[in-house]
Amino acid sequence: MFDVTPLSATDRSEQYAELARQVDGLLHGETQLIANAANFAALVFHALPELNWCGFYFAEGQELVVGPFQGKPACVRIAFGRGVCGTAAATRQTQVVPDVHAFAGHIACDSASRSEIVVPLLRRDGSLLGVWDVDSPRPARFDEVDRVGMQALCARFLRACAL
Ligand code: SME
Repeated sequence: MFDVTPLSATDRSEQYAELARQVDGLLHGETQLIANAANFAALVFHALPELNWCGFYFAEGQELVVGPFQGKPACVRIAFGRGVCGTAAATRQTQVVPDVHAFAGHIACDSASRSEIVVPLLRRDGSLLGVWDVDSPRPARFDEVDRVGMQALCARFLRACAL
Protein backbone atom coordinates (compact mmCIF):
# COMPACT_ATOMS: atom_id res chain seq x y z
CA MET A 1 0.00 0.00 0.00
CA PHE A 2 1.12 3.53 -0.75
CA ASP A 3 0.21 6.21 1.77
CA VAL A 4 -0.99 9.45 0.24
CA THR A 5 1.00 11.86 2.40
CA PRO A 6 -0.87 15.14 2.87
CA LEU A 7 0.88 17.91 0.94
CA SER A 8 2.83 20.05 3.42
CA ALA A 9 3.57 23.08 1.24
CA THR A 10 1.22 26.06 1.29
CA ASP A 11 2.47 27.44 -2.02
CA ARG A 12 0.44 25.75 -4.76
CA SER A 13 3.37 25.40 -7.17
CA GLU A 14 5.36 23.72 -4.41
CA GLN A 15 2.36 21.43 -3.70
CA TYR A 16 2.54 20.28 -7.32
CA ALA A 17 6.30 19.69 -6.93
CA GLU A 18 5.59 17.53 -3.87
CA LEU A 19 2.87 15.68 -5.72
CA ALA A 20 5.24 15.10 -8.65
CA ARG A 21 7.68 13.39 -6.29
CA GLN A 22 4.82 11.23 -4.97
CA VAL A 23 3.91 10.28 -8.56
CA ASP A 24 7.49 9.20 -9.19
CA GLY A 25 7.49 7.11 -6.01
CA LEU A 26 4.14 5.52 -6.74
CA LEU A 27 4.87 4.59 -10.36
CA HIS A 28 8.55 3.74 -9.92
CA GLY A 29 9.54 0.46 -11.56
CA GLU A 30 6.18 -0.08 -13.26
CA THR A 31 5.35 0.65 -16.90
CA GLN A 32 1.93 -1.04 -17.26
CA LEU A 33 -0.42 1.65 -18.57
CA ILE A 34 -3.70 0.73 -16.86
CA ALA A 35 -2.05 0.02 -13.50
CA ASN A 36 -0.19 3.33 -13.54
CA ALA A 37 -3.24 5.25 -14.78
CA ALA A 38 -5.39 3.82 -11.97
CA ASN A 39 -2.86 4.66 -9.27
CA PHE A 40 -2.16 8.12 -10.74
CA ALA A 41 -5.88 8.98 -10.73
CA ALA A 42 -6.30 7.75 -7.14
CA LEU A 43 -3.26 9.70 -5.93
CA VAL A 44 -4.31 13.00 -7.51
CA PHE A 45 -7.95 12.62 -6.40
CA HIS A 46 -6.96 12.13 -2.77
CA ALA A 47 -4.08 14.64 -2.71
CA LEU A 48 -5.74 17.73 -4.19
CA PRO A 49 -8.72 19.56 -2.68
CA GLU A 50 -12.05 20.35 -4.33
CA LEU A 51 -12.15 17.69 -7.03
CA ASN A 52 -15.20 15.61 -7.88
CA TRP A 53 -13.74 13.64 -10.78
CA CYS A 54 -10.36 12.92 -12.30
CA GLY A 55 -9.32 10.35 -14.81
CA PHE A 56 -8.13 9.27 -18.22
CA TYR A 57 -9.67 9.08 -21.65
CA PHE A 58 -7.63 7.09 -24.16
CA ALA A 59 -7.64 7.75 -27.91
CA GLU A 60 -9.15 5.04 -30.13
CA GLY A 61 -9.51 6.07 -33.76
CA GLN A 62 -11.30 9.41 -33.78
CA GLU A 63 -12.77 8.93 -30.30
CA LEU A 64 -11.77 9.06 -26.66
CA VAL A 65 -12.75 6.10 -24.47
CA VAL A 66 -12.88 6.38 -20.70
CA GLY A 67 -10.05 4.76 -18.73
CA PRO A 68 -9.18 4.56 -15.04
CA PHE A 69 -10.74 7.34 -12.96
CA GLN A 70 -11.98 8.40 -9.54
CA GLY A 71 -15.45 9.84 -9.11
CA LYS A 72 -18.91 9.05 -10.40
CA PRO A 73 -19.42 6.83 -13.48
CA ALA A 74 -18.59 8.80 -16.63
CA CYS A 75 -19.52 8.99 -20.33
CA VAL A 76 -17.70 6.21 -22.14
CA ARG A 77 -17.01 7.67 -25.60
CA ILE A 78 -16.29 11.27 -26.63
CA ALA A 79 -15.62 12.20 -30.26
CA PHE A 80 -12.52 14.30 -31.01
CA GLY A 81 -13.60 17.94 -31.04
CA ARG A 82 -16.56 17.42 -28.70
CA GLY A 83 -16.69 18.84 -25.19
CA VAL A 84 -13.65 19.91 -23.22
CA CYS A 85 -11.92 16.55 -23.51
CA GLY A 86 -12.52 16.28 -27.25
CA THR A 87 -11.26 19.84 -27.73
CA ALA A 88 -8.05 19.08 -25.81
CA ALA A 89 -7.57 15.97 -27.96
CA ALA A 90 -8.25 17.78 -31.25
CA THR A 91 -6.14 20.87 -30.48
CA ARG A 92 -3.49 19.10 -28.37
CA GLN A 93 -3.67 22.11 -26.06
CA THR A 94 -4.46 22.03 -22.36
CA GLN A 95 -7.97 23.37 -21.74
CA VAL A 96 -8.60 25.34 -18.53
CA VAL A 97 -12.33 25.99 -18.28
CA PRO A 98 -13.42 28.23 -15.38
CA ASP A 99 -17.16 27.75 -16.07
CA VAL A 100 -18.15 24.54 -17.81
CA HIS A 101 -21.67 25.88 -18.41
CA ALA A 102 -20.15 28.63 -20.58
CA PHE A 103 -18.14 26.16 -22.69
CA ALA A 104 -20.00 25.38 -25.92
CA GLY A 105 -20.52 21.63 -26.22
CA HIS A 106 -19.46 20.77 -22.68
CA ILE A 107 -20.48 17.21 -21.85
CA ALA A 108 -21.94 17.02 -18.35
CA CYS A 109 -21.08 13.63 -16.89
CA ASP A 110 -21.37 14.69 -13.27
CA SER A 111 -23.76 17.61 -12.76
CA ALA A 112 -21.62 18.71 -9.79
CA SER A 113 -18.77 19.73 -12.13
CA ARG A 114 -18.44 23.50 -12.49
CA SER A 115 -14.85 23.94 -13.70
CA GLU A 116 -12.43 21.67 -15.45
CA ILE A 117 -8.87 21.20 -16.73
CA VAL A 118 -7.95 18.75 -19.48
CA VAL A 119 -4.35 17.96 -20.49
CA PRO A 120 -3.58 16.17 -23.78
CA LEU A 121 -1.22 13.21 -23.38
CA LEU A 122 1.32 12.96 -26.17
CA ARG A 123 3.72 10.06 -26.61
CA ARG A 124 7.38 10.74 -27.36
CA ASP A 125 6.68 9.97 -31.04
CA GLY A 126 4.12 12.81 -31.06
CA SER A 127 1.03 10.57 -31.25
CA LEU A 128 -1.92 11.17 -28.94
CA LEU A 129 -2.34 8.65 -26.11
CA GLY A 130 -5.41 10.39 -24.73
CA VAL A 131 -6.28 13.10 -22.22
CA TRP A 132 -6.15 13.62 -18.45
CA ASP A 133 -9.40 15.24 -17.24
CA VAL A 134 -9.93 16.85 -13.81
CA ASP A 135 -13.26 18.34 -12.67
CA SER A 136 -14.16 20.51 -9.68
CA PRO A 137 -17.47 21.47 -8.08
CA ARG A 138 -16.02 24.99 -7.52
CA PRO A 139 -16.19 27.51 -10.36
CA ALA A 140 -12.74 28.69 -11.52
CA ARG A 141 -10.98 26.05 -9.42
CA PHE A 142 -8.11 25.75 -11.93
CA ASP A 143 -5.64 28.42 -13.05
CA GLU A 144 -2.20 28.78 -14.60
CA VAL A 145 -0.54 27.10 -11.59
CA ASP A 146 -2.75 24.05 -12.17
CA ARG A 147 -2.03 24.07 -15.90
CA VAL A 148 1.73 24.01 -15.35
CA GLY A 149 1.44 21.59 -12.42
CA MET A 150 -0.92 19.13 -14.12
CA GLN A 151 1.18 19.15 -17.29
CA ALA A 152 4.26 18.31 -15.19
CA LEU A 153 2.39 15.46 -13.45
CA CYS A 154 1.28 14.10 -16.83
CA ALA A 155 4.86 14.25 -18.15
CA ARG A 156 5.96 12.14 -15.14
CA PHE A 157 3.14 9.70 -15.83
CA LEU A 158 4.10 9.31 -19.49
CA ARG A 159 7.77 8.86 -18.61
CA ALA A 160 6.93 6.18 -16.01
CA CYS A 161 4.92 4.33 -18.65
CA ALA A 162 7.91 4.60 -21.05
CA LEU A 163 5.67 6.33 -23.59
N1 SME B 1 -16.87 17.26 -19.04
C1 SME B 1 -16.14 16.52 -19.99
C2 SME B 1 -16.68 15.14 -20.15
C3 SME B 1 -16.01 14.15 -19.34
S1 SME B 1 -16.51 14.16 -17.76
O1 SME B 1 -16.48 15.42 -17.12
C4 SME B 1 -15.88 12.97 -16.87
C5 SME B 1 -16.07 17.20 -21.34
O2 SME B 1 -16.85 18.08 -21.68
O3 SME B 1 -15.19 16.84 -22.08
